[in-house]
Amino acid sequence: MQKKIEVKILGIESSCDDTSAAVVCDGKLLSNVINSQSIHEKYGGVVPELASRAHQQNIVLVVKEALARSEVPMGDLDAIAFTKGPGLLGSLLVGASFAKGLSVSLGIPLVGVNHLHGHILAHFLREKDEDECVPEFPFLCLLVSGGHSQIVLVKDYLDFEIIGKTIDDAAGEAFDKCAKVMGLPYPGGPVIDKLSKLGDENKFKFSKPSIPGFDYSFSGLKTSFLYTVRDEVAKDPEFVTNNVNDLAASLQKTIIDILFNKLEKAVKQTGIRRVAISGGVSANSGLRNRMLMTAERKKWQVYIPKISYTTDNAAMIALVGYYMYQKGKFSSLSLIPQARVNFMDL
Ligand code: KG4
Ligand code: ZN
Repeated sequence: MQKKIEVKILGIESSCDDTSAAVVCDGKLLSNVINSQSIHEKYGGVVPELASRAHQQNIVLVVKEALARSEVPMGDLDAIAFTKGPGLLGSLLVGASFAKGLSVSLGIPLVGVNHLHGHILAHFLREKDEDECVPEFPFLCLLVSGGHSQIVLVKDYLDFEIIGKTIDDAAGEAFDKCAKVMGLPYPGGPVIDKLSKLGDENKFKFSKPSIPGFDYSFSGLKTSFLYTVRDEVAKDPEFVTNNVNDLAASLQKTIIDILFNKLEKAVKQTGIRRVAISGGVSANSGLRNRMLMTAERKKWQVYIPKISYTTDNAAMIALVGYYMYQKGKFSSLSLIPQARVNFMDL
């Protein structure tokens, strides 16, 4: 009997402050190793110089560990997928250079992957014995991360249309910057999420944008939050300490209201009721609950990713690499990663 030919892809992700490597075999995840850089915490945000240096220190060990856990010998790999952007250029260069070196030494193709494509296809990640319940095409995906807030119409694995995007800050930035205003650590999103559970979400009102279409804007909210805190602290220096839970809950509710206002409009206009969320902010418990409640109220079919697939990881990059490999979409060694990449540039 002929041996079944399996396609094994190594994925490498290094777009921001997570060094990650993963192995996917025939679209099934065998391993996913993430080293999150803690060095940035004390600076209140990611320091690009430190991030690229930490990627250089981590990448060999992370790749070795991902291969070891997958039990796939390096020589059995069929292709190397890596994040080509968007992200921090110095960080991207580390992953890209490593991927190129490995592809040359093993004599296998390279696949440059758009990071945002990875966040969307994270919904198709399955471990070996997991069920196959994945979104049916077409579906709408609310992609919310530290750098992006978009509503994407997903027509196929490699076919998308952005129908709404932020015109200024991303939802994750709104969480992180407002957390900084309150003196909370970076990244602010998970901290606000935790504090929100103890607060009154209706205690404070912050401004919401009114822009046409499906586009988002979060800069007005950020300013309104900053001014509220500044004015109240002028009257009572202990204001933030005494109201931190209510501030967090009210901020979180406002961000979710803004996100859902456009998402509900997009569902209505497209008539597509299959709706997914992805990206780092999709780990937010309030957003996940709102998805479930809206699904029930509006009869949507919703897809909520596993928490481990919401923030940056190489599993999603390896999986996109697998679908691109199937279509023969390889990259040349001259491909240079870019801090900004057109989303439609796959
Ligand atoms: O997707 P991601 O890991 O990186 C980018 O591609 O940007 O997203 C990081 C963002 C950060 O802004 C972080 O604060 C936010 O995701 N985030 C959260 C939560 N977990 C991560 N925001 C709200 N609630 C959370 N639980
Ligand atoms: Zn990301």
